[in-house]
Amino acid sequence: MEEPIDQQRVDAVAQVISARRSVRSFTDEVPAREALERILAAGLAAPYAAAMAPGSTLDRRFFVLPRGSEASAAARAAIQAHAVAALAGGDLPAPLRARLEPVSEGRLLGVGTAPYYVVIAERGSMMPVQQQSLAHALENMWLMATALGLGMHLVSATTTMGGDPAFCRLLGLPVGELALNGCAIGIPAHASEARPAPDIGAATTWLD
Ligand SMILES: Cc1cc2nc3c(=O)[nH]c(=O)nc-3n(C[C@H](O)[C@H](O)[C@H](O)COP(=O)(O)O)c2cc1C
Repeated sequence: MEEPIDQQRVDAVAQVISARRSVRSFTDEVPAREALERILAAGLAAPYAAAMAPGSTLDRRFFVLPRGSEASAAARAAIQAHAVAALAGGDLPAPLRARLEPVSEGRLLGVGTAPYYVVIAERGSMMPVQQQSLAHALENMWLMATALGLGMHLVSATTTMGGDPAFCRLLGLPVGELALNGCAIGIPAHASEARPAPDIGAATTWLD
């Protein structure tokens, strides 16, 4: 039998989904550790590719690098080095080049000033699938951060760090065995601009 809809619950979820935005500017204040733990728990609860995981069990780990820590300085240096290498190595789309240029000069928007840089690692048999798993974890974390009034942005440069010996040493992980991804979390410096609701009718084809 179909459960009656709890409208308040539905509205609360819809409100959090529509309020979620990329926040790249943070106050100096540090969010409470308990808030971070709730966000990480949301990430741990996200789905994973069981059929591709060793023993079908989840091996997902979180590393919290607080602003000012040695680990966060080393991580930022590694991200900068990767931006330099990416710019030197290739024909990149203009928006990506524009985003990487300040990073290559040591100006890391968002993650450079955020109170927390969180790295997530996951073991599995296929890197693209592990990255999909991590994307689900990050979305759960993003929605929980939004519900808690915190700001977050993705730090996709982290995905290139799984094979970086210095970065893996920093986290105490073997090189090249786990997929990595990451995000910056803090208290938003200002409110995000409201955005019009997406036109789901225009984006959907019903094949009745
Ligand atoms: C796969 C993927 C990678 C992304 N990587 C980054 C990133 O490295 N840094 C960043 O600031 N935003 C990143 N973003 C965020 C997008 O730029 C952002 O979601 C988009 O501009 C829409 O804005 P909104 O998040 O405020 O809705 C990424 C988004 C996706 C889906």
